[in-house]
Amino acid sequence: MSVTPESAVAPARIVVLISGRGRNLQSLIEACARGHINGRICAVISNRAEVEGLARAEAAGIPALVVPSRGVADRETYDAELAHQLDVLAPDIIVLAGFMRILTPGFVRRYRGRMLNIHPSLLPKYPGLHTHQRALEAGDAEHGATVHFVTEELDGGPPIVQGKFMVREDDTPETLADRVMQLVELKIYPQAVAWLARGAVALSGDVAEYEGRPLTQPKQLDALEPAFR
Ligand code: GRF
Repeated sequence: MSVTPESAVAPARIVVLISGRGRNLQSLIEACARGHINGRICAVISNRAEVEGLARAEAAGIPALVVPSRGVADRETYDAELAHQLDVLAPDIIVLAGFMRILTPGFVRRYRGRMLNIHPSLLPKYPGLHTHQRALEAGDAEHGATVHFVTEELDGGPPIVQGKFMVREDDTPETLADRVMQLVELKIYPQAVAWLARGAVALSGDVAEYEGRPLTQPKQLDALEPAFR
């Protein structure tokens, strides 16, 4: 399912899923407040209680709820509960912003074309964890982050936008993580959500499209609109 032209005109209802600090969430809150995203974050859901992201939501007056994953028997049970909560909220767009869970295929299919993820690597390099360490170990000259549509393949859905920068000789996983966040993530995620909210990007089959044309390569930092630079 894709975002319809009607919902692109009306402000999109956005639900953000988090597990932790919520720096990406904060960038989305601010982009919505400034009118850079034609959307409203109607709820934030965390699978962990007492994380910083929940406090950010509350400070912004956004309903914040915890759907705890600890102690839940299996992924199907958890995802069914999450889908139940989401369907009550009726979001047009679901944003995974540091949501540290692998989702079941059925859950992913239910929200296909409406769910985005951000991953701290230049996908298809380094799906999964420890991306900064892996980039350093491989001796990569460049590193960055990618926003992609969520499909059944972990961190493998069609990419929309990517940002990269040069790795320095003295970089550590921590310095890389910091630059990925500051130079790339906090810019490309609000931009990608803005594009989806106004129908500029869509998932057609297995292909991401921008303005109706297949994206053969993800957009790069130089394609960001001025509000997101
Ligand atoms: C980000 O690096 C994101 O790419 C990864 O988890 C981190 C979340 O950070 N999936 P925050 O919660 O947005 O501060």
